[in-house]
Amino acid sequence: MPLTPQFLTQSPALSASSAVAVDELAQGLLMPAANIAPKYFYNLLGSKLFEAITLLDDYYPTRTEASIFEAHNAHIARAVADSGIKTACLIDLGAGNCAKAAALMPFLSPRQYVPVDISVDFLREAADKLQARFTALDIVGVAMDFSSALTLPDAVQSHDRVFFYPGSSLGNFSPPDARRFLQQIADTQQGKASGLLLGIDLVKDAAVLQAAYDDAAGVTAAFNKNVLLHVNALLDSDFDLRQWRHVALFNLQDSRIEMHLEAITNTTVRWVGHERSFAAGERIHTENSYKYTLDGMSTLLKQAGFSHVQHWTDAQGWFGVFWASK
Ligand code: TRP
Repeated sequence: MPLTPQFLTQSPALSASSAVAVDELAQGLLMPAANIAPKYFYNLLGSKLFEAITLLDDYYPTRTEASIFEAHNAHIARAVADSGIKTACLIDLGAGNCAKAAALMPFLSPRQYVPVDISVDFLREAADKLQARFTALDIVGVAMDFSSALTLPDAVQSHDRVFFYPGSSLGNFSPPDARRFLQQIADTQQGKASGLLLGIDLVKDAAVLQAAYDDAAGVTAAFNKNVLLHVNALLDSDFDLRQWRHVALFNLQDSRIEMHLEAITNTTVRWVGHERSFAAGERIHTENSYKYTLDGMSTLLKQAGFSHVQHWTDAQGWFGVFWASK
């Protein structure tokens, strides 16, 4: 009999269905420089569009990261074992379609797999599919917004743990927030050994970066604009997607790709009790994706409290995979 995945909703609960979400969104939209928090990208359509982004030629991070894991999987598994960690529990932060963890299963052989994601319906489907492939694996799906705090359910407290944070999602935090987030992972010991397997995108030619976040097929543009549909659903606002265009630019000084939505014409958005006017050319900031050097990320991991840090990269040095333990 195959096991069935368990599902837990963990605090902080998904703010995306609460009054907290409404306040947070309204506050961001009413700022002089308007913003929408990136977690709102991931409604069901957003998760599907992001999955499509990962298949694009222009979006090199996913396949480059996969090639590093493929080339070095035995080394990586040995590094984990040498840290004294039996990968009893693999905690996948922002698991999405669970494809990256699935590729690691044969090498890390966890007993328990804990995919965590804010996009709960998407995660459910992915976890069910994974269970069909790995019938003996104990899967505990967790629906949670871990961008504010990472609290794990009791069901995962009893094993050695490997945190898995691929896809350069850490780069979507500002560097100080990234350090605080890494600190939380480093501190989540509770008497058990734990470490972090991290994938992070590296600084490179601006044209390559730019194309990855403004692909020729327009999928990233659709992904970025979909956030407005999600906001309309949550706030009951009236964003008209035809009035907005996708902008991605590399900010060299801050070493980050910035994603914005730019008003094509003067436009006013209304929702209960509020309105916000945008002049043509005015932007809503939706995401940053910070790019690191291998040294910069090693330093950040050490500042966060990991004393042992190793990394692997691809032949072009485009992407880094890190193993960090205490
Ligand atoms: N973690 C991904 C990254 O920074 C997220 C991402 C990829 C993304 N493409 C995007 C976010 C486009 C917003 C828009 O690469």
